[in-house]
Amino acid sequence: MTRIISVSTEAIEQAAAIVRNGGLVGMPTETVYGLAANARDGKAVARIFEAKGRPQFNPLIVHVNDIEAAQEIAYMSEQDLAVAQAFWPGPLTLILRVRGGSGLSDLVSAGLSTVAVRVPSHNTARAFIKACGVPIAAPSANRSGTLSTTTPAHVAQSLGDGVDLILADGVSKVGLESTVFDCTGDKPCVLRPGAVTAEELSEVLGCEVGYDLGNKESGEVRSPGQILRHYAPATPVRLKAVDVEEGEALLTFGSAQFMGMRGSGERAIDALPEGSVAHLSKDGDLYEAAANLFAMLHKLDRPEHKAIAVMDIPDKGVGVAINDRLRRAAEK
Ligand code: TXA
Ligand code: MG
Repeated sequence: MTRIISVSTEAIEQAAAIVRNGGLVGMPTETVYGLAANARDGKAVARIFEAKGRPQFNPLIVHVNDIEAAQEIAYMSEQDLAVAQAFWPGPLTLILRVRGGSGLSDLVSAGLSTVAVRVPSHNTARAFIKACGVPIAAPSANRSGTLSTTTPAHVAQSLGDGVDLILADGVSKVGLESTVFDCTGDKPCVLRPGAVTAEELSEVLGCEVGYDLGNKESGEVRSPGQILRHYAPATPVRLKAVDVEEGEALLTFGSAQFMGMRGSGERAIDALPEGSVAHLSKDGDLYEAAANLFAMLHKLDRPEHKAIAVMDIPDKGVGVAINDRLRRAAEK
């Protein structure tokens, strides 16, 4: 049985001791739960890849508590500093050039000359990182290619004995992984959309910020995590649904009043059993929907459902990130 302990000062100390001794800890953050290890301990980092079943070409995010600590492991340009000052601590990861002598295990950056760095805002994450006293490598705490986890129970379910201890502190508030942003190339680019949007980044930098989400046809990717099928439930996902087929589950956004069952025209929310419907946000609030997304996909991901029908979600603001995850989940 995986050990899950509720957050307290002692629990944080206990979890930090595990990391200092080369172990793996399920760590709460404001985005999703992370699978944490000492980023300077090659063996511990290798265990992360093993526990997740993650391909070793896919690099990890390193978590620290402030800009100064980020600068100890990587170089930050004026642009990096401007966005870090605006959005750290928070759901933003920066791709930075690794500093020589950073001490980071080569496995962390999978042989690239850059490293992904994030400063989380979650109080428990911050206290835990401080107690560890080292930079913390932490990918999302889920088996590779499956849904990210937003609760301690989901971490235990996804990773089982692969994790030594789960530091439990409720549900992740943002619910989607951090925005991955890269200023190291010619044009600043979002490599993974998240709660910090391209529009917000553009505003801080005073220049246009684009998306580079990988090219499916050419297979060209700037961020190895861009391999398309990802964040996926076992049950097929059907996007932009305007009705529900017999045997499907329904994931709603906004009012579901007019969603009917295909064929009968009966209202889907009346016809479906309770376990087959989940509401991302009845009010059409994109932040609420982001926070609920993974937990609700988990709930509806059941063998009795032949598919999960998802109502249309507007492609603006955080909706861009939600649709990015849904498209990956729907990819066959
Ligand atoms: O919200 C989050 O970011 C969570 C929490 C735990 O902090 N972490 C997370 O990590 O989502 P992970 O490993 O699941 O996703 C990291 C993403 C991957 O898509 C990876 O390919 C990309 O960041 N990445 C990491 N290092 C990179 C690098 N040097 N260059 C480009 N992309 C990189
Ligand atoms: Mg992940």
